[in-house]
Amino acid sequence: MSSIFDITTTPSMLQRVSKAVVFNCRRPKPDYIDEELVLERLQSFGLDFVFFDCYEDFYENQEQYEAYGENILFLNEAPKTKEESEVIHRLQPKYILWVTYPHFFIACAEYTRHNLKLKNEPTIPFTVFSSALERCFLYHVAKMQYISGSILEIGAYSGGTSLALALGNRASNVKDIVFSVDRQFQDDYDYFMKSAGVEESIVKGEYYSKEFSKLAEETFIKHSQKAELRILWIDGDHSYEGTKFDIATYSKYLKDGGILMIHDYGLSDSHHGGIPKAVWEELVDNDEYSNFAVIGSIFYAQKNRKEKFVDFSNISSAQNSPANVLNWLSKKYDFKDKKVFLYGAGLHTDEILKLAQTYNREFYNAVVALIDDNRANQGNMIHNKIIMSLDRVKMEDFDFIIPSSFDYESNIIRELDKNGVETKKVVPIYTNDEYLKDMQSKIPVIRDFDMLERVLKMSYVE
Ligand SMILES: C[S@@+](CC[C@H](N)C(=O)[O-])C[C@H]1O[C@@H](n2cnc3c(N)ncnc32)[C@H](O)[C@@H]1O
Repeated sequence: MSSIFDITTTPSMLQRVSKAVVFNCRRPKPDYIDEELVLERLQSFGLDFVFFDCYEDFYENQEQYEAYGENILFLNEAPKTKEESEVIHRLQPKYILWVTYPHFFIACAEYTRHNLKLKNEPTIPFTVFSSALERCFLYHVAKMQYISGSILEIGAYSGGTSLALALGNRASNVKDIVFSVDRQFQDDYDYFMKSAGVEESIVKGEYYSKEFSKLAEETFIKHSQKAELRILWIDGDHSYEGTKFDIATYSKYLKDGGILMIHDYGLSDSHHGGIPKAVWEELVDNDEYSNFAVIGSIFYAQKNRKEKFVDFSNISSAQNSPANVLNWLSKKYDFKDKKVFLYGAGLHTDEILKLAQTYNREFYNAVVALIDDNRANQGNMIHNKIIMSLDRVKMEDFDFIIPSSFDYESNIIRELDKNGVETKKVVPIYTNDEYLKDMQSKIPVIRDFDMLERVLKMSYVE
């Protein structure tokens, strides 16, 4: 069985893959890709790889590719044309590494060599914006959720997820319309829908989400008699404002028991960092919604109604996500006029500060400085916060020290204790029962197909 990785855990994925074929699918290279940096990063993980500059290079050197059993394709961008998609289909890579914002964000969309088949369901073709795990989940939600109503997708690109939803819809008892909205569909969209034979159940709307909101009601009524959705899937404008707009605008049409899903939850890069804030404000803190979960990077919520279509109750794993940490901390503590130190000056702190700088100024302003034991780091700045030694911080007056590391939290807490820092001033996160209980019970996470299969088995009404 192939391994499945969470979209946010690329470094650990790379540690597990020893050999890779890496290739840039686009020539000329887009300016925003710092290819050297990416290759350097792959090297720093000790990855043995061959690099092809584009598809043509690959065609000329196919034997080299064959020698690499475990492989990653490095795509500078997702495939845009039918031909490009066909190359990916033909190669059937085991892993896909997809690079968009090269400075720090390397997102990974995994792809299983053989698409997962649960209960002999049809194979779901893929495009690289969503993972096989995520598309499989969308398919099953569209199939199992039996209340009447149509499905709305905002953000379709080549139609990877439109297809999952349309195939699920066709296999369901409901068989209504899938409305698919995108400001610009890719060329291969129609090809994919046609080859799966679902084009007649799909109504495409080539509009910006804002424009479509003015036509939504009449479009729904025209094609599906009622303006009532059973599923709302959002993967369009990923900004904080865009996500909030899509949730607020289109959830009006979502029926009781309806399911709302949002892609790319939990990332902290500048492109996706606003999504968790919008999700917490619109859904997590809203009594109308419950039964939350994260599947890959899909945030799942159900509107009203006690009966659950997907039962996540046996899942007890929480997401290691700075976005959740920041939202959780802000609910638990008032940071106004407080003095806080973050212990740890690594990637975790970088992500927390990056998010806070834009989306949580109160927390950002409360952070006075960072603590790091490594002398070489002391005096450096991360997001305008200076790094200091613990000895120096002990002389300061402060309200909290927050360990900021998933792996080293216990060590940090021991160090603080050894140095006589009062326990009440230390705010643990990942070793904090309260945090774990909140996140596990409130937003459990499905990371792999084994977990998904368990959930689907529990949930299906036979
Ligand atoms: C990440 S892609 C969608 C991928 C697709 N859901 C999948 O997983 O296969 C995002 C799409 O949203 C579209 N988009 C971005 N902003 C939009 C907006 N404001 N209104 C409509 N579409 C938008 C883009 O054109 C792009 O095709």
